[in-house]
Amino acid sequence: MKRYLMTPGPTPIPPEVSLALAKPIIHHRTDEFKKLFDETIKLLKSVMQTKNDVVIFSSSGSGAMEAAVSNLIGESQKAITINAGKFGERWTKLVKAFGGVPVELKYEYGDYAKAEDIQKAIEKNPDIKAVYIQASETSTATAHPIDEIGLMLKEKYPEIVFVVDGITAYGAIDVKTDRWNIDIGITGSQKALMLPPGLSIISISQKAKTIIKQNSNKYFYFDILGEIGAYGKFTPPVGLIFGLKESVSIILNEGLGNVFKRHSLLAKATREAAKAIGLKLLSKRPVDSLTAIVMPDGINSSDVIKQMKELGVEVSNGQGHLKGKIIRIAHLGYFFKPDIIVGISALEIALKQLGVEFNFGEATTKAMEIFSDE
Ligand SMILES: Cc1ncc(COP(=O)(O)O)c(C=O)c1O
Repeated sequence: MKRYLMTPGPTPIPPEVSLALAKPIIHHRTDEFKKLFDETIKLLKSVMQTKNDVVIFSSSGSGAMEAAVSNLIGESQKAITINAGKFGERWTKLVKAFGGVPVELKYEYGDYAKAEDIQKAIEKNPDIKAVYIQASETSTATAHPIDEIGLMLKEKYPEIVFVVDGITAYGAIDVKTDRWNIDIGITGSQKALMLPPGLSIISISQKAKTIIKQNSNKYFYFDILGEIGAYGKFTPPVGLIFGLKESVSIILNEGLGNVFKRHSLLAKATREAAKAIGLKLLSKRPVDSLTAIVMPDGINSSDVIKQMKELGVEVSNGQGHLKGKIIRIAHLGYFFKPDIIVGISALEIALKQLGVEFNFGEATTKAMEIFSDE
């Protein structure tokens, strides 16, 4: 059966990247690897829109999240964590795990953080050291206003470190790391970077480096400063670095602006298609990298996902209390217009098979109309 992977990570991989991944392995303590690595970091910085240092760990994305807490937050130090979903909740857990004190701002799933809420929390807690947030909260398909928050922090609290998990944002939506004052930006390989899982990536500002240097926190493998310019200290996943160089080149050849426009169009078609057959979106501020669609009353999303999978289309369930209530369709990375037509038509077929009454074909037609109007 032909499989259509439409989950928000891992995501599909372009054939050029698969070929790069298949290159013969070279040793990592060689000039050849150093050249490959340095060139890759340079391209990656363009994708992340930063001049800051960029470090790569071989781990899933959460490894970089852990590093961003363990390196920065000492015993009893306070950090604001934005919890508007499963991944925001992870920031709170990490801060606690490393002995810090999270000042958690909790939002309903689907809602987003406002710059003024963060400002109020800092006014009440002037000893806040860092703000931890997602650019794209994948569990609810929601974009937080990173630009507004970053600029507010820069103007009013320049000493606070701004940490952004952009794991489903970088390479899909516009994240201006330097311009928006992001001190630590994080991503992972298995999302818009169109690679298999296995790499976590961190950009780090001069300010964050200085603060980390003043700390005496405990960590060993996830040592951000120790990794700057020193890749190969531990054995890196050489094959994934071959693949990463290819995938960031593909992104930059398309042009960042075009990549963001493509994601925005695919997102618009997916959202409008769902609405055309009376379905609701979960998010109050939908992100362009994936769409969370609420299932009709009486319909369990697990059944919809099962029916879609029988057609070859794999989408994700909700997480936590949203399990069974929503489906999440990804359109980040190696996704194009026909993929959305396939995904939406599979959703329509699944709903019809489950006995949902709606105007069969209207969602797919809506997506086709949006694409033909472009
Ligand atoms: C926004 C966000 N943060 C963190 C993670 C965790 O990444 P990983 O599963 O690679 O550790 C994910 C994974 O889906 C994510 O989407």
